[in-house]
Amino acid sequence: MADYDLIVIGAGPGGYVAAIRAAQLGLKTACVESRETLGGTCLNVGCIPSKALLHASELYEEAHSGMLAKFGIDFKSVSLNLDQMHAEKAKAVGELTGGIEFLFKKNKVEWLKGHAAFTGTNSVEVAGKSYTADKIIIATGSSVTPLPGVEVDQKVIVDSTGALALPKVPKHLVVIGGGVIGLELGSVWRRLGAEVTVVEYLDQILPGMDGDVRKEAAKIFKKQGFEIRTSTKVTGATVKGGKATLTVEPAAGGDTEMIEADAVLVSIGRRPNTEGLALDKAGVAVNGRGQIEVGHDFQTNVPGIYAIGDVTPGPMLAHKAEDEGIAAAEFVAGLTGIINHDVIPGVVYTMPEIADVGLSEEEAKAKGHDVKVGKFPMMANSRAKTNRDTDGFVKVVADAKTDRVLGVHIIASLAGTMIAQAAQAMEFGATSEDIAYTCHAHPTHAEALKEAAMAVQGKPIHM
Ligand code: FAD
Ligand code: NAI
Repeated sequence: MADYDLIVIGAGPGGYVAAIRAAQLGLKTACVESRETLGGTCLNVGCIPSKALLHASELYEEAHSGMLAKFGIDFKSVSLNLDQMHAEKAKAVGELTGGIEFLFKKNKVEWLKGHAAFTGTNSVEVAGKSYTADKIIIATGSSVTPLPGVEVDQKVIVDSTGALALPKVPKHLVVIGGGVIGLELGSVWRRLGAEVTVVEYLDQILPGMDGDVRKEAAKIFKKQGFEIRTSTKVTGATVKGGKATLTVEPAAGGDTEMIEADAVLVSIGRRPNTEGLALDKAGVAVNGRGQIEVGHDFQTNVPGIYAIGDVTPGPMLAHKAEDEGIAAAEFVAGLTGIINHDVIPGVVYTMPEIADVGLSEEEAKAKGHDVKVGKFPMMANSRAKTNRDTDGFVKVVADAKTDRVLGVHIIASLAGTMIAQAAQAMEFGATSEDIAYTCHAHPTHAEALKEAAMAVQGKPIHM
């Protein structure tokens, strides 16, 4: 008899959720985690600490920049206590990671502390001890993709983990990569006083997002003071006396230029964690990008071994990992797990927030859909106008023949909250008319989604 019904490797949002669900379903479950605390990248060095700093820095900017004066709120002086900001972030992280430990105890999930490596198809070694299980779920997540020639020292040249812990506000921060991490953490340090330059290899920031969103987002970030240099590549970096000198050149090749920076954030993507797992001992295959491919039931090429989250193909998002964790645990328990990979929302937590779900206009067309698009500017939304946060728009992409909603794209202060409604509507197979004829509370930002859906029919009221 095996030691466990299920061993989960990794306690990020994929792994810890899978372990809890499996235990709830009556399986004897252990979860291996090599970090000091549970919760993976997301809780320790990802979603949670970044959102803590985004929230705090937004409050600081509001208070410091004088933007509250128009609401009749005057300050004598505002100063930044960065140590306290970091301390509050650490407190939130501690509470949440501790919460997972509590949930493990409550659900009788055993935490095996240490690094797991396969020793066979049903066995792993952790901290010198061997454990067997009927089934194993790999949920080892991802880590930062390095950039050759730009070595992270976590002092001057940092990755996202270092950028979440800078001890002082850099005068000039250069962000390499205009993706989600670059724009979120770039926003944090810009709000706290840094001059921020984003160097992006492609001709636009935020690859993969809807074309209109990418254009509008770049405009808004530039207005906020970001310097955005697209079609540019960094070819090397040297560090001397606490400063970095980057060599950059046009992506297509051309004259080299130097940029000086007090801090450099390397955020060019993340790659799956499979090193040190001894996958070969179990016969688990990886694809050309190092990801573990799985079938509809999350089984790898080896029956009984499953994989979920960032280590598998698809968007690297905590909620995708969580939902896969639940579904995989249900398959392991002999049930049918369900996840709709076509309806996974994504949110960039800048101000305004940027959120999407489903297909962009470009993707919908490329898939052969005749599309009808409805757009509604936040400038015409009464609540946004009242709150003085009118940047952005809502865009609904629908199939011209069936009116079925194919995608929703939002730039708005509350886009991350608004996108949930769009995801639910799409999950229920909604048409744009269904959204347009759903009563929305007034005055709310969400009314902009109703109006954008009405615009698909060419009939918005407030525009
Ligand atoms: P992970 O969270 O990476 O967890 C894997 C765990 O496995 C790790 O704790 C690791 O220590 C452990 N592990 C790995 N190998 C072994 C081994 N052999 N033995 C034992 N343990 C092992 N996503 C969002 O949806 N929203 C956000 O706002 C968001 N913000 C982010 C901000 C930043 C700065 C970063 C870096 C990421 C952010 N993400 C966000 C992405 C999100 O963190 C990941 O998609 C998510 O954590 C993936 O979950 P996972 O369970 O697959 O892996
Ligand atoms: P990303 O894939 O979002 O962006 C990387 C950017 O770097 C791209 O724009 C890419 O074109 C650019 N790039 C690649 N190589 C380059 C080079 N050599 N020079 C200049 N630019 C280059 O990756 P990022 O921002 O590192 O985030 C990693 C993952 O973490 C994302 O896939 C995302 O899913 C997840 N994440 C999610 C968050 C959220 O949901 N709010 C927040 C932060 C991270």
